[in-house]
Formats: sequence, structure tokens, C-alpha cells
Amino acid sequence: MTTASRSGPLVIAVAGLKGGIAKTTTAIHIAGVLASAQQRVLLADGDRIRTSTAWARGGHLPFTVAPVTALARARDYDVVVLDTEGGPDNTELLEFARTADLTLLPTTPDINGLDGVAQTADILRAGGVASERYSALLTMVRPGGMKEIQARKGLLGQQIPVLRSSVRISEVFRDAANAAVLVKDVRADIAAKCWKDYEAVTAEVIARVMEVNA
Ligand SMILES: Nc1ncnc2c1ncn2[C@@H]1O[C@H](COP(=O)(O)OP(=O)(O)OP(=O)(O)O)[C@@H](O)[C@H]1O
Ligand SMILES: [Mg+2]
Repeated sequence: MTTASRSGPLVIAVAGLKGGIAKTTTAIHIAGVLASAQQRVLLADGDRIRTSTAWARGGHLPFTVAPVTALARARDYDVVVLDTEGGPDNTELLEFARTADLTLLPTTPDINGLDGVAQTADILRAGGVASERYSALLTMVRPGGMKEIQARKGLLGQQIPVLRSSVRISEVFRDAANAAVLVKDVRADIAAKCWKDYEAVTAEVIARVMEVNA
């Protein structure tokens, strides 16, 4: 996997109006897969940056505070992954999406999750973000279950792009978060499969970005 042909870093945002839909888990693991492929990766935490931006608003700080979007063009990295907060306001969501080469919208394969993605996609569309620049990602999916098929149909019906690869549901993701490690470093039989899911997701993301930017 290489991103070397670009002049600046490739930027992948992980966003969505809803909380708890695996944005952080996705950002961490895409960053992890790329770093394992010898890419220089920055994970920009949307949460943390916003606090310092608010602090700098009055212009009294003796240093520059850059919004996460400016950070995204930092030259020292091959890839910047933006982890955003659940329920960012529309302006911020659009700012992220316009900066990113691709914005991933993770969703569980149920009505709740899909509603959230549909609302997020509406905001992106209204803000002029082209449909090849965002994509839903099905997460917490039971392999071989009907829910994934139904969810894909639902997304397709609403003209929302969705990645072919998806991420299975497994408690090892929580174990990984609790241990502050990547899922591949959790000692459980299922962990390797979970890591492979994100390897496939990441490969598809990179392929898609290269296609759009070609
Ligand atoms: N594939 C998965 N299978 C099972 N649990 C998962 C999976 N991915 C994430 N989780 C769990 O779901 C919860 C929410 O995940 P995460 O924190 O990544 O979501 P988020 O969208 O970043 O949430 P927030 O809106 O609070 O930032 C966590 O407990 C996480 O461990
Ligand atoms: Mg999060």
C-alpha cells in the first residue's frame, strides 16, 4: 500500500452525526493499518483541537493555533486521519469533509445507524461535497447475517455510497480500546479477523482516493 505519489498528505476523515458508531475505532485502525505499511500517519483528534481553537479566538495567545483542517495539510505525514466528535455542527462537518480526500461515515447496519448516515449525507450533499468524496462504512456487522444485505440496499436506495468491505462486530474492539492497543495485539482468536477487516477497509479507502484523485 503506498500513497507516495502525492505532494501532500492524503486526508481521511471519519465523521457522522451520531455518537458511539465506531468513528474513533475506525480512525485508530485505519491509521494503524497504514502505519503498519510504513506510512507516516497523523491522527488528528478533532475534539482536542477544537478546545484550543476556542481558546485562541480572542487573538491573545502568543502562538498560532491551527484548526485541525490546517493540520491536515502538514507536510511531514503521508496520511492524516481525522477523528471527529459525534454530532459536530454542520459547519464543522463540512469543513472536515471539504478538507478530506474521503470522508467515511461509519454506521451500524440498523435503522438507527442508517438514519444518522442519511442525515449526514444530506448535509454533505447540501454543502456541495461530491458523492465520490464520502462513503458509508458498515461496522458492528454479524458476518453472514441478513442485516448487512438489507443495510446495503437501504443505502443504495438513498444513493449513499458504501464501501464493499465491512467490519464485524466483536468485543475484542472494546478490549483493544481498554488496553490502548490495536486489535491485532489483543490475544484472542478472533482478533486477526478483526484486523483483516480493517486491512480490507483501508485498502479500499486508499484505492478509492487514488481513483478520485487520478
Ligand atoms: N466492530 C465493533 N464491534 C463491537 N464493538 C465495537 C466495534 N467497533 C467499535 N466498538 C465499540 O463501540 C463503542 C463506540 O466506539 P467508538 O468509541 O469507536 O465510537 P465513536 O463513534 O468514536 O464514539 P463517540 O461518538 O463517543 O466519539 C466502543 O465501546 C467500541 O469499543
Ligand atoms: Mg470517538
